[in-house]
Amino acid sequence: MKKLLTLTFLVCSASLYGQNIRIQTSDVELILRVGDNGRVYQPHLGKRLSHESDLALLPQGREAYLTHGLEDYYLPALRLTHNDGNPSLLLQYVSHESKVLGEGAVETTVRLKDPKYPVEVALVYTAYTDENVIKSRAEIVHGEKKPVTLYNYASSVLHLDAAGYWLTEFSGNWANEVNMSETKLEFGKKILDTKLGSRADMLCSPMFILSQNSPAAENSGSVILGTLGWTGNFSFTFEVDHTGGLRIVSGINPYGSEYTIAKGEKFVTPEFIFTYSAEGTGRASRNFHSWARRHTLKNGTGDRMTLLNNWEATYFDFNEEKLAGIMDDAVTLGVDMFLLDDGWFGNKYPRYSDTQGLGDWQETASKLPGGVKKLVETAIGKGVKFGLWIEPEMVNPKSELYEKHLDWVVRLPNRDEYYFRNQLVLDLSNPAVQEYVFGIVDRLMTENPGIAYFKWDCNSPITNIYSAYLKDKQSHLYIDFVRGLYNVLERVAAKYPDLPMMLCSGGGGRTDYKALEYFTEFWPSDNTDPLERIFIQWGYSHFFPSKAMCAHVTSWNKTTSVKFRTDVAMMCKLGFDIMIHEMSETELQFCKDAVVNFDRLKPVILDGDQYRLVSPYDGQHMAVMYTAGTDKAVVFAYDMNPRYGEKLHPVKLQGLDAQKMYRVEEINIMPGSGSSVRLNGRTVSGEWLMTHGLELFSTSRARSVVVEITAI
Ligand code: DGJ
Repeated sequence: MKKLLTLTFLVCSASLYGQNIRIQTSDVELILRVGDNGRVYQPHLGKRLSHESDLALLPQGREAYLTHGLEDYYLPALRLTHNDGNPSLLLQYVSHESKVLGEGAVETTVRLKDPKYPVEVALVYTAYTDENVIKSRAEIVHGEKKPVTLYNYASSVLHLDAAGYWLTEFSGNWANEVNMSETKLEFGKKILDTKLGSRADMLCSPMFILSQNSPAAENSGSVILGTLGWTGNFSFTFEVDHTGGLRIVSGINPYGSEYTIAKGEKFVTPEFIFTYSAEGTGRASRNFHSWARRHTLKNGTGDRMTLLNNWEATYFDFNEEKLAGIMDDAVTLGVDMFLLDDGWFGNKYPRYSDTQGLGDWQETASKLPGGVKKLVETAIGKGVKFGLWIEPEMVNPKSELYEKHLDWVVRLPNRDEYYFRNQLVLDLSNPAVQEYVFGIVDRLMTENPGIAYFKWDCNSPITNIYSAYLKDKQSHLYIDFVRGLYNVLERVAAKYPDLPMMLCSGGGGRTDYKALEYFTEFWPSDNTDPLERIFIQWGYSHFFPSKAMCAHVTSWNKTTSVKFRTDVAMMCKLGFDIMIHEMSETELQFCKDAVVNFDRLKPVILDGDQYRLVSPYDGQHMAVMYTAGTDKAVVFAYDMNPRYGEKLHPVKLQGLDAQKMYRVEEINIMPGSGSSVRLNGRTVSGEWLMTHGLELFSTSRARSVVVEITAI
């Protein structure tokens, strides 16, 4: 997390029953209240209340952080057993305090304790005023003689009371990430969780949309968007009780993860991060986008580099000459960087395929006699930067690392090994392994300070779960693996604060906001078929800004044009992974022009406000636009597989000034072709663009239009 400067410290502590604890942003408010019994309740979550007198009218609500063993009938936030075997916990208010952090955030800590047992819990809320995002975590500590085991340890509980609840989840698999599906919640539980450990988000992403009273809509209705900042197993439980109330319990998935803490040891949960919008999901996503850029993403307000990757062009089959040729292609395209992917390392077991070599991070002498050093020099000599792929948390059984350090591998004694992509996970709970993994990056950077970027991959979930290091604490492994990973990433960030890195996990197997404190961007999917990417990028856009999402022009689905593929990639962080010699001269010129356009429009596409205009889930078309203030906008419109004779509707723009006049100009046009946009070159009012709209769709398959809108 960015280090926030503490400016002021206000102590609002008092032990008055009935007092309200207001956690507020400009538009959103979560209110906690101390009940007569000293327990803390949640009377309100929603729009910020503007009349102080209304607070007295609020019902008490339900307990804010529920514990096990008392009178509650549903899923608790916290369950532990005391040294004397008593399995219950009662939490009562002690104090609360708020401090103003730098960059427009206020942190409120509510302290609770058990009146009979020495267990204390702090609920910590950080409210980001301008972005309307709130983070919440719990800190649990005890003073009992012997260790205490935690069985459930949620980051947050939120309570809602509405006429109905609709939940949107994001699920899928490799190359098929974040399919959105919405279900109405009825009595009982719906759980979104994973237990994959490392590539934790492969089947389900740690994010949800909860809509109250009606299904989620883009521009209307009350929605909560929630996610967990945790690069491991997560769990969101949505439980509707017999009164129709909904509780959302979010945190680390406690599955297989009982966690023992010694006296005085603090267990800090990851942060649950959410926003509320009374104007639908579009507004909520924009809240997340601005918050991510300003407060979370590594170098969130900085620039991003365009690149040419060699993965799909060569896979494992390359040598220095071939790579030098691709660097020339990067220069021809006009991108900033050449990114060397998998396959550059291993000597006893050279990495000629994904079956061997992982873990042995020495350059393969037969492929690259001059090593990374020569490649960096060659790239720099040609005027492009050099980026490098690594997968430092993993090992192939066919590797020198496995032969030397079997005890560093997550693997079960007395069992055959089970492999995912021919590999196993290293035991990052072990400090010696953390040192080794940090050393991979550190050695590469020390020997080659010219490396300008890393792509950090993670292709396997944790299989064969057992840690030789953790001995009798096996149930700590899922959690300690993630904490070990953070130790490494923290050290990398401290030593190389300006090093941009791409978070990758066989596509979008890792997409959470804690990891993204250490990464400038992530790889949403290996599926770069533009017709598929339209859905994948749409799905992720609910939580992540375009700036965080890499999108590359590749050879997937050659039935679509290079223009269509480029236009789809250009609505996120543009890159290429394609043999440019396979393109015609016109196509290559088109790509070069697109890179120039992208560089010019980065402040709008990557840093502007995104409006999702037409959903690909609603038909055969999709449109999004980005605005930088009300003076500049870029609109992307795509036809997917339209029906013959289908009725087409104009795309109504958003976020402009109705009173201003705008020039409409189609860009990314194939050289030699004209514009197909009816109002191309014309000046029209913001009012027209937002109420009538632009006729951008057609009945052609896989056709796209990019339009630049400029206030005059
Ligand atoms: C999976 C990634 O998603 C791909 O982009 C590529 O880097 C391969 N791994 C390399 O093994």
